[in-house]
Formats: sequence, structure tokens, C-alpha cells
Amino acid sequence: MGEERLEGLLEENRVFKPGAEFQAQAAVQEGKVYEEAESDRLGFWGKAAERLSWFRPWEKVLEWEPPFAQWYVGGKLNASYNCIDRHLAGWRRNKAAIIFEGEHGDSRVLTYQNLYREVNKFANVLKSLGVEKGDRVTIYLPMIPEAAIAMLACARIGAPHSVVFGGFSAEALRDRINDAQAKVLITSDGSFRRGSVVPLKENADTALAGAGSVEHVIVVQRTGSEVHMQEGRDLWYHEQMQKAAVECPPEEMDAEDMLFILYTSGTTGKPKGVVHTTGGYMVGVSTTHEWIFDLKEEDVYWCTADVGWITGHSYIVYGPLANGATVVMYEGTPDYPAKDRFWEIVEKYRVTILYTAPTAIRTFMKWGPSYPESRDLSSLRVLGTVGEPINPEAWIWYHTYIGRERCPIVDTWWQTETGMIMMAPLPGLTDLKPGSCTVPFPGVKVEVVDHDGQPVPKGSGGYLVVREPWPAMLRTVYGDNDRYVQTYWGNWPGIYFTGDGAKWDQDGYFWVLGRVDDVINVSGHRIGTAEVESALVDHPAVAEAACIGKNHEVKGQAVAAFVTLKEGVETRNGLVDELKAHVAKKIGALARPDDIFFTAELPKTRSGKIMRRLLRDIAEGRALGDTTTLADASVVQTLKEQYQE
Ligand code: PRX
Repeated sequence: MGEERLEGLLEENRVFKPGAEFQAQAAVQEGKVYEEAESDRLGFWGKAAERLSWFRPWEKVLEWEPPFAQWYVGGKLNASYNCIDRHLAGWRRNKAAIIFEGEHGDSRVLTYQNLYREVNKFANVLKSLGVEKGDRVTIYLPMIPEAAIAMLACARIGAPHSVVFGGFSAEALRDRINDAQAKVLITSDGSFRRGSVVPLKENADTALAGAGSVEHVIVVQRTGSEVHMQEGRDLWYHEQMQKAAVECPPEEMDAEDMLFILYTSGTTGKPKGVVHTTGGYMVGVSTTHEWIFDLKEEDVYWCTADVGWITGHSYIVYGPLANGATVVMYEGTPDYPAKDRFWEIVEKYRVTILYTAPTAIRTFMKWGPSYPESRDLSSLRVLGTVGEPINPEAWIWYHTYIGRERCPIVDTWWQTETGMIMMAPLPGLTDLKPGSCTVPFPGVKVEVVDHDGQPVPKGSGGYLVVREPWPAMLRTVYGDNDRYVQTYWGNWPGIYFTGDGAKWDQDGYFWVLGRVDDVINVSGHRIGTAEVESALVDHPAVAEAACIGKNHEVKGQAVAAFVTLKEGVETRNGLVDELKAHVAKKIGALARPDDIFFTAELPKTRSGKIMRRLLRDIAEGRALGDTTTLADASVVQTLKEQYQE
């Protein structure tokens, strides 16, 4: 397709209607689901819960004492049983649950029966190490099947897992282990990244020097790298698995028992342990997964996220497996060994549903259409995006070159805290507008409000909130109810604040504009400005630092840092790189600033608050906004002039 056609599509500001053929076969075809859910929200979620297998039925759908919710009160179930055991009764037993594609093109298929065996055995390994219901287990693994196996094994015995993304540093890992007081750590001898090896075990060893709660480390052999194994503490996964018994009965969990903790960045330096429980979470992720991706028995579903993020939890592991889907799991990056890697995988496994991130799409755009064009993508039928607002250009490109104008795109808005997708089209029903995540899922009440928490009229913008509790909502911040209440419910009583700004248009469609708090969204990953700032200030040369998110063509936003050096410290060659490396060491490469700018002073209000808004104006070359509250207006003028130079 020519560039002209692409331009044309962009200009038309078009609405994309579901194709008749797609509509006729869609999982949800009738708009009355919205009305039904609207008129009886709890009835809707009660009915949705029947899709799961319960050991004991719930007595009440919701118990709501704002802001604390209990869903499916009295119900008993097990997440791993729902993801595995119940599929073994019929032919799904031999269906591929996980198709694993290694970075080097090696492949491994786990049927539901295989998965059952692996998960049961590993659950027994954990038990043999004294892990009991309620004990926390930290998982620090690459994108290999053992990551999913470990999560499901924890779920099986009722031990909440805390997965830490493999790109996080030793220090970030240590803090997360300590906050959760994890008893066991599961890691690997390394992970492959573009042909080299990331030393996960070495990071783990460094982390453990400051993490006393961990009694045992289980090490998966993936790269074959030489690693240090501490006698009595460290055990090889494969050796333990050899000895383990094959049956491990699933623990009967209360609907409100904790399923996992997942750390996410907030506005302070300390990441928050977002707590999800079992019943509501499983109902939310499995329902949304089926309806939004229009899941069919024969689909081959591929979500390109990492299991270290919420997308991996909800839409690689729990949602799809609860639905008995075939899930592709890929270990590597999109450009290794070549820039057509994703399309090679789609072709190889005849992927039908592809769920990825706007930043990836923009990268593919930059590389040009020849890579997808060289592969057979005719199997694709639904495309999804998540993690940040998708710009209409990227949407149209995705639709044109990947979907070949046949596939609906589901733009899914949600968060670590929401657990499940909150806004997205139902692809057989909803008209699509490029750049809008369209409308709330049935039974979800999202609104745009003003400063006073009052809904704004159609056509205007404000703060994005959730009005009513929803099944997969976070229950608290691990060990910190106060922080939970203040962060999410502190602005307007009984209303959940997302941290995002949004507008809704005349048709009631939502357009999420991005974070309005001090959180930066880099390539769909949340990074707190305060975290990067404290990493910078930790460097001996730095007195003070202020970080902002700066628009970036591919990443959406990039971190830019304004730094003042300590008295007597001179800027020197290499200092910028040293500071960038320091941030990567403290947090992980994902937080590394793109730009560091030295300044004698930072613009502050009279009460000493750094005005990041003005720093953003400077970094993006805009006219300066209101400077009247500054203690010293000349600071920002000087800074602007210096920056432009
Ligand atoms: O700002 C929104 C953005 O990502 C934030 C949530 O980040 P995280 O908890 O890391 O979860 C990402 C994956 C669910 C949101 O507050 N965001 C996520 N999806 C979208 C989005 N912004 C616009 N459109 C989306 N589809």
C-alpha cells in the first residue's frame, strides 16, 4: 500500500466499523450487554463469575466499604485449577497451552497436560522447601515457560508471587524482596538478550546480600552460564524437579485470598506493592480476555509483553489460560536476529491474535513496511495495543501493514492497579476511532471529572476516574493501607483516581492523554520521577535533581534530568554517562535518562517545590507557562537560555 493511501486515511479522521463477516462470528454481537450491565452491574458480574470453577459458590457478589472491596464473598477457588485442571477433562488436555519460542529460534510446546505436570511438580518443590499458604515467593526470570510454571505453582499452593521484571537491577530486586519479605527466590543462570547473556543470578546474589528473608534460591538453567551456587541456599530447578511428586492438590483459596503482589512506580521513591486477590481478578481477566480479543477455541494468541508486568500476568498467564487458550510466549526482542522477528513468529505459528504496545508499533514504523511485507500475516484476525496512548499515525500503520486492513484493533486502557482491561472496544460491536480506547467494558464505570470530582460534559477533558468498584481492582498496597487510601481514593471520597488525564468526545468515546502525576511512561513502562531523582542524588557528585518525561518519537516519553552538582564539583567529561549508568545500576536500564542537563539552580516555588511543568516546557522547547509562583523567576529564564544553547 502506498504512502498516499496512508495519508488519506489519516486525514479522513475515519471511524472504522466492524466488518460484517467479523461481526457475524464475534463472541459478543449484541449491544444489549452494555445495557444489561448498566442496569444490573452486580448481576452482570455475578453471571460472569459462573465461567470459573468454584470449590464453593460465593454468597454475595460484592461487599463494599469504600475504599475496601470484597468480591464473591465466601467463594472458594484456585487460580491454577482454573487455568489447568479443569481443561484436562476433555480434548483440551492435548491442546497447546504454551508455545514457547526462544530467542535463538528454539521452540517448546506445553500442552495443558504437560503444564499440569510441571506446575504440580514445581508446587511440590516449593512445598518441600517449606513454602506454605500465605508465604511470598519472588520470581526473577526471563520470558521462559518456567516463569508461568512458577507463577501457577505458587497459585496452586496459595503462596502469593511477586514477579520482578528481569530488566530491574539488583538493588531494585532487593527492595522488592524486602518489602514482600519473600521466603524463596526463583531465578535463572541468566537470560538471553540479543545474543548476549544478562547475569540474572549474579544480580540475585547481589540483591540477596541485603535481603535476609530469603531461605532458598531456585535456579533455572537457561543459558548454561557458570554461576555461583551457595551451599544450602541455592538449588537447581531441574534437580529439584526430578525428585518431585507429580500430584499436588490445589489449595482451596478464599476469593479474597491474595494471588499476587506486583510492584509499580508511584509518585514517591518507593514502589508500591499492588495487591490482587483471587476470585475477582480471575473473573475480570478471563471475561475481558475472551470478549475483547474475541477468543475462539482455535486461536493462537500472542501477547508480546513480559511476565514481569501486569500485562504478562493478566493476558499471558491468568486470563488466557483460564480460557483454555493457546498462548505464544517469546523470549527475545523484535530485532534479533533480524527486524522481521515478530512477523517470522506470526508466520511460523499462524498467530491469529496479536497484542503489543504502541512503542513497538512505532519502532516497526521506523524500520519500514518491508519487514512485515516479507512475511505471511494472513492468519491474523485481531490486533491489540496497550501501555500508552497510541497516536493515530501508529494506529493506521498497524491497521494497514500488520492487519492488512482486515483486523479490528482493540486499544485497551488499564493499569497494574485495575488488574483487568477497563476500556476497550468489543471488536464485533464497537466502531473504532484511531487514538481512542473507545468505551468502558460492560460493568465498568469510568468517568472524566473536574477538580471537584464532578463529571465534565461531553467534549471536554479532566481527570480519569473509576466510579464503582470492579472485580479485578487492587485491594490495597502491600503492608500499607494508608498509602492505598491516600494514593487512589484521597482526592474524592469513594472515587478511584487513575492518575491519568483524559477527555471524552461527543460520542462518549474516551481519549486518554497520559499521566497527570509525577509518573513517566517510557515505552509503556511506568517510572516515577522521584525514583530516578533519588537514584541521581545517590551519586556523590549530585546535590539535587529533577526529572521529567519528554516527548519521544518511539518511546512515547523519555526521561530527561536536570541536575545541580554539589559545591565544588565541576562538570567533567564522562560525568553525564556516569550518571546515566548510575541510574541504570540503581533501578534498571529502563530508567536511564536520555538527557542530563546541568544547572546551577532548579526552578522552585516559594515553598520549595520544584516546578516540573516549567522544566517540561524548557525540554520541549515551548514558551514558558505561568511563572508567577516561582521564588525567583530569573532562574528559569537563565535555564531556558542555557538549554537552548
Ligand atoms: O497512563 C496510562 C497508560 O499506562 C498507565 C498504566 O501503566 P501500568 O500500570 O504500567 O500498566 C500498563 C499496562 C496495562 C495508565 O495509567 N496506559 C495504559 N494503557 C493505555 C494507556 N494510556 C492510553 N491508552 C492505553 N490503551
